[in-house]
Amino acid sequence: MPPTDADEPSSGLPEEPGGLLGRPEDPERRRRLRDERPQLARGRPGDPWDDGVGDLWEHGAGDGGAEETVQRGVLVTGASGGIGEAVARAFAALGDRVAVHYVHDEGRAEEVRASLPGEGHRVVQADLADAEAVRGMVDEAWVFLRGIDVVVNNAGVSPAHRLVAVSYRQWQRAWADTLAVNLVGAANLAFCTARLMIDRKAGGRIVNVSCLGAFRGEPDMPAYSASKAGLNALTQSLAVALAPHGIAVSAVAPGFVASASTSQLLAGPEGDAGPEGEPLRAQSPAGRAARPEEVADAVVYLASAQAEWASGAVLDLNGASYLR
Ligand SMILES: NC(=O)c1ccc[n+]([C@@H]2O[C@H](COP(=O)([O-])OP(=O)(O)OC[C@H]3O[C@@H](n4cnc5c(N)ncnc54)[C@H](OP(=O)(O)O)[C@@H]3O)[C@@H](O)[C@H]2O)c1
Repeated sequence: MPPTDADEPSSGLPEEPGGLLGRPEDPERRRRLRDERPQLARGRPGDPWDDGVGDLWEHGAGDGGAEETVQRGVLVTGASGGIGEAVARAFAALGDRVAVHYVHDEGRAEEVRASLPGEGHRVVQADLADAEAVRGMVDEAWVFLRGIDVVVNNAGVSPAHRLVAVSYRQWQRAWADTLAVNLVGAANLAFCTARLMIDRKAGGRIVNVSCLGAFRGEPDMPAYSASKAGLNALTQSLAVALAPHGIAVSAVAPGFVASASTSQLLAGPEGDAGPEGEPLRAQSPAGRAARPEEVADAVVYLASAQAEWASGAVLDLNGASYLR
């Protein structure tokens, strides 16, 4: 039996007086968030701020049969560009309200928010390597969005640390930084939102953005592939643990995606000859990289009401470039 910590509460958040997730209470901030947030199309069962009608996961957006569209609250990490931006856009196009997360590039995150269709979107900031910052971001998004129905763990880092080229110190730093964001950050975000979802008793969805590298390996950035393999295992563990609460947990594992962060690589010599002598564009027999929108479409499906039975799945999105 694992050791127990006498200070650890046995159930439920908040674990300290104050904010939803145990943040020190700031009544002014809470009031401001409540005033700023838009009206919901319909209420949510168990939502402490709503009168609550209906079951989101029976009648939610994307079920194809509902006359009335229910706006979901969707938190997308790393939505200031690339795949995350496409994911934010795809949910907003369905009428959902999106919390656009960033860490450094506030200007870009603000641009994304302002360009999203619909209303009720918000920019939120947190370094995912900082557990308290994650808690604060979830608290803010939960209040502003009137609950979070979908979390997309998309943000990720991939510093290069080729074993034969870096010092032992650089090697350790790369492992610590990568795991802190890609794996522990995602786990902390899942913890904070899932505990609130469980208390609300209205189910939810968590979709993790993994990578083909989890299966194939990444010789230049082994910590990255290990973090994504860990993310896949986290996905499966949480899928089992959260199923009784109506929370489905799944992942997508894209191959090479053409986005702002990879455009230089694609345009450069590695676009034609990758690190292992393999042309990046030709990794797929289709002869191209994925579009961010193709990943976003899959995330939207996995977050839908119909995808409850896909819980635990890690969906390959690599254009047949790697078959397992
Ligand atoms: N692109 C690909 O080919 C590819 C393939 C397979 C899987 N993936 C995965 O897909 C996801 C998105 O990839 P992308 O290429 O679209 O990403 P990207 O354009 O490089 O964007 C990365 C995002 O992560 C955020 N971020 C970076 N460090 C962070 C930290 N410490 N805390 C919180 N957020 C942080 C960035 O915020 P700021 O902009 O504010 O810095 C940015 O929004 C990643 O998980 C990646 O591993 C990508």
